[in-house]
Amino acid sequence: MSGNRTFTMIKPHAVLANQIGAITQMIEAGGFRIVAMKKTKLSASQAGKFYEVHKERPFYGELCEMMSDGPIIPMVLEKDNAVEDFRALIGSTDPAQAADGTIRKAFALSKSENAIHGSDSDENAAIESAFFFAVTDQY
Ligand code: CMP
Repeated sequence: MSGNRTFTMIKPHAVLANQIGAITQMIEAGGFRIVAMKKTKLSASQAGKFYEVHKERPFYGELCEMMSDGPIIPMVLEKDNAVEDFRALIGSTDPAQAADGTIRKAFALSKSENAIHGSDSDENAAIESAFFFAVTDQY
């Protein structure tokens, strides 16, 4: 049985394009409750730590640079079957493959600047939420 929380962040290019409201509206319309949310900015080394799992991938440098290039909106979200349902709502990593009605179809610019992150497992959702929020900040 999968868990009821996931972690997401709106990426810098979407924040700088004033798309926070449109994206959070899609998240809430998709049945998710925002449990924690803030506006912050990662340093390159913090982005490197967050995405450490990808450090051997050829796009790791580009990813860390892009994620530390401007403000982000990290959030913890709640819904039954949260991880799987949220990945369906955001769509494929590559916007060219993202289905109509998904957040990435609407707002992603490329595989790297793909508007929004979504945890890939319950375990990573817990780790990623703890990267940004204390348990006592999640309501
Ligand atoms: P995200 O869901 O945040 O998780 C890993 C990120 O790596 C992904 O979204 C993209 O921003 C980035 N990424 C994944 N694959 C590629 C790729 N082939 N080229 C560039 N960036 C990528």
